[in-house]
Amino acid sequence: MARKFFVGGNFKMNGTISSIKEIVDNLNKAQLDPNVETVIAPPALYLLLVREHAKKEIGVAAQNVFDKPNGAFTGEISVHQLKDSGIDWVILGHSERRTNLAESDEVVASKTKYATENGLNVIWCCGESLEQREAGKTLEVIAAQLAALKSQISDWSRIVIAYEPIWAIGTGKVATTEQAQEVHASIRAWLAKEVSQKVADETRILYGGSVSEKNCKDLSKEKDIDGFLVGGASLKPAFVDIINSKV
Ligand code: G3P
Repeated sequence: MARKFFVGGNFKMNGTISSIKEIVDNLNKAQLDPNVETVIAPPALYLLLVREHAKKEIGVAAQNVFDKPNGAFTGEISVHQLKDSGIDWVILGHSERRTNLAESDEVVASKTKYATENGLNVIWCCGESLEQREAGKTLEVIAAQLAALKSQISDWSRIVIAYEPIWAIGTGKVATTEQAQEVHASIRAWLAKEVSQKVADETRILYGGSVSEKNCKDLSKEKDIDGFLVGGASLKPAFVDIINSKV
């Protein structure tokens, strides 16, 4: 089964009502490749604005969700509240949350389980630090992150995996096509071995980390790169070129 190319825009903690409206207007006006699934993730405060404003072909993702149905959890947002607001996706396991908010592999897996079991699609992120790469531990680190996920997940159909080497995020230092392809292939091999061939064949694996309109075409040619999770460049008009980059 062909995997539909997927491009996500992670706005992180950026934007204002007017700048986010401008980004959405730009996407609404653009001719987006219908063979690409496009999902944008604004800060929580702007999710409804974006959902109401964006054309329906564009999906909207939250940047976090909690793993309880409702109740006394100050500051959190539930899966049900996202769905009630027309939000179908969430980004989980981003390295910025793993680092700044101490979200462990187990916490990320638990949130992913709760979200997928309750009908939300998840962009699940993994990736190694520079130190881990230099120590030759990249594949080991990612396998451990995947194993923690597997211990809690049985249905992989709502999961898109984003490989984001931490050293490439926001640094302008993109992974080479060979480095990215090597990790993507190893994630797919892990899925085939540890989950099933079907899940390995069907799961989309995105690359994230300094993706730009300049490097996206080459990356998109690699056989195991099924799209991108874009940070900084998703705030710019050139995001359209990244969405339309699949050759
Ligand atoms: O989630 C996307 C991200 O972490 C990559 O950010 O700014 O390097 O494209 P950036």
